Amino acid sequence: MKTTVSLIKADIGSVAGHSLVAKELLDIAEEKLKEAKETGLIEDFRVFNVGDDLQLLMTHRKGEDNPEIHELAFNTFKEATKKAKEMKLYGAGQDLLSDAFSGNVKGMGPGVAEMEFTERKAEPLIAFAMDKTEPGAFNLPIFKIFADPFNTAGLIIDPSFHSGFIFEIWDIMEHKRVLMRSPEEMYDILALIGSKSTYVIKRVYPKEDHKTLPKDEPVAVVSTEKLYQVAGKYVGKDDPVALVRAQSGLPAVGEVLEAFSFPHLVSGWMRGSHNGPILPVSLKDARCTRFDGPPRCVALGFQVSNAKLIGPVDLFADVAFEYTRMKALEVTEYMRRHGPFEPHRLPREEMEYTTLPEVLEKLKDRFEPVK
Ligand code: F6R
Ligand code: MG
Ligand code: MG
Repeated sequence: MKTTVSLIKADIGSVAGHSLVAKELLDIAEEKLKEAKETGLIEDFRVFNVGDDLQLLMTHRKGEDNPEIHELAFNTFKEATKKAKEMKLYGAGQDLLSDAFSGNVKGMGPGVAEMEFTERKAEPLIAFAMDKTEPGAFNLPIFKIFADPFNTAGLIIDPSFHSGFIFEIWDIMEHKRVLMRSPEEMYDILALIGSKSTYVIKRVYPKEDHKTLPKDEPVAVVSTEKLYQVAGKYVGKDDPVALVRAQSGLPAVGEVLEAFSFPHLVSGWMRGSHNGPILPVSLKDARCTRFDGPPRCVALGFQVSNAKLIGPVDLFADVAFEYTRMKALEVTEYMRRHGPFEPHRLPREEMEYTTLPEVLEKLKDRFEPVK
C-alpha cells in the first residue's frame, strides 16, 4: 500500500501584522487534525507555522488531490479563520478566497505539496516551508540537490543515481509543463529555471534506470500556486512549501540541506516587492520582523514509517547553519541600503504594490519629447 504525504498551508491571520500565526489557530488546527486521525481519515499529522503561514503536514492512504483530505484542510483553515476574525488578527482569512469547498483546495488560495510513493525500508523525508517569498525560491536549492555535483557528491560517486534525475518544470504564467532530463539537458533546464518567477520546478523523478526506485513516483515536490494569479489581484505572498525524500539511492539528508548553505536572493520581501536573501532558520526563529523579513526557510526532518511520522528534527537549528545566517544578515544589510532602488526593489512588472500608474498619470502633461 502506498503512502501519501500532503503539506497544505495558508496564511489566515497573524499577530502583529504579518509576523506570526497565533497559538489559538495552531490549537484549532491541532484539534481538527487529531479528530481526523481518530476517525482514520489521516494516518498522522504535524501542525506548525513559519511566520504567518499555518502549515498542515498530513500522511494518509488516499493519494494526491483527494477531495476528503483537501476538504479537511479547507475546513481547518475555515474554522481557524473564524477564530482569526473574532480575534481581529491581521489579514484574517486572507488566503481563503472562497467560503465554499469545491473538491480541491488548489486554486482556492492555500499552497499544496503532495506526493504518493511506496515506502522504502526506511523513508527519510524533509518538509520545507518558506515565508515572504515565491515558489521559484525553491528552484536554486532543488536544482543543486538533484543536479549539481558540487553540491551532491552522490551524483558522482553513488552508482544508484549517477545517471541523474528528471525535472518536471512548470510555466506558471501559461499553465504548461515540460519534463527535462539532467544532466543531458542541464543548460536548457537552467535557461528556464533561472527565470524563477515564470519557470518553477514542480517535481523531480528518478530516471528509468534507477536501481531501486519506481520511475513514476516523485522524490521531490514543490507548491506552485501563485496567489495573485489565483485571486486576480494581490492578496498575499505564495510562501511556498516543498517535500523532499532522501538517502538510499537519493541525495543524503546532508546533501539536501547543503543546498541551503548559500543564502540566495529571492523575491517577495516587504510588500511582495523586494529581493532579499533566504535565511535558513529553526522553528523558534521562524518569525519575520526586519522589514517584514528577511524571507525565511524552515526544514523539518522525519522518518515516514507505515504512514506514521517520526520526528520532526528541526534541521536548520544546527550551528552548522550559523555561517549561512551571518552571511544572509550581511546581505540583508547590503540589500536594505539600496532602499527603493532595484535590484532590492523588484522590476516594476513584478511588484505587488505600486504607485507608478498614478505617478505617471499625474505627470502625463509634464513629460515632453527629448530632441
Ligand atoms: C505579507 C507581507 C508584508 C505586507 C506588508 C504590508 O506577507 O509580506 O510585507 O505586504 O506588511 O501589508 P498591508 O498592506 O497589509 O499593510
Ligand atoms: Mg500575512
Ligand atoms: Mg506568509
